[in-house]
Amino acid sequence: MIGNRRKRAIVSVSLGMLMAYSVTAISDIRGYDPRMLERGKIVFQENCEVCHGQNAEGTVKEWHKPDAQGQYPPPPLNGTAHTWHHSIGALFHTIRNGTISVGGNMPARKGTLSDNEILSVIVWLTSLWPDEIYRAWMQQNQDG
Ligand code: HEC
Repeated sequence: MIGNRRKRAIVSVSLGMLMAYSVTAISDIRGYDPRMLERGKIVFQENCEVCHGQNAEGTVKEWHKPDAQGQYPPPPLNGTAHTWHHSIGALFHTIRNGTISVGGNMPARKGTLSDNEILSVIVWLTSLWPDEIYRAWMQQNQDG
């Protein structure tokens, strides 16, 4: 979990850049394009696994507890934690910009990952989620 202030900062950013994707992507991103799934998995292995675990299961059991410096460990992204509470736009923004600028520990990826690679990694992550979690997330995205 990320602190409320930080979460607001992440969520409140403009989603304009996503508009090009959202119409097709949000309709059912898990079934969107098998090549994106494959690409997303590779992008994850190369850029994210070291902190978030091989299958996005997290690397720290007590991921919801901040350390002595008030920093949160990398959470699981496999549907067992809070990731699905964030809209696709918020996830995109977090992955693109990282969390260092808002006091966290995750490096930014803009400049190293293309928008398409970032979207691919989101597609792959959602493919790990249980159906009911995925459905709830889709519903939230559609509700805006
Ligand atoms: C250096 C370690 C590190 C790397 C590498 C990393 N992350 Fe993170 N990530 C974190 C930490 C730590 C957090 C928790 C927020 C914070 O305090 O920084 C986080 C949070 C997140 C969140 C928000 C999750 C939630 O439930 O609120 C997402 C999504 C995420 N990371 C995706 C990724 C993706 C995708 C990649 C690869 C492109 C990646 N991360 C690479 C450390 C990392």
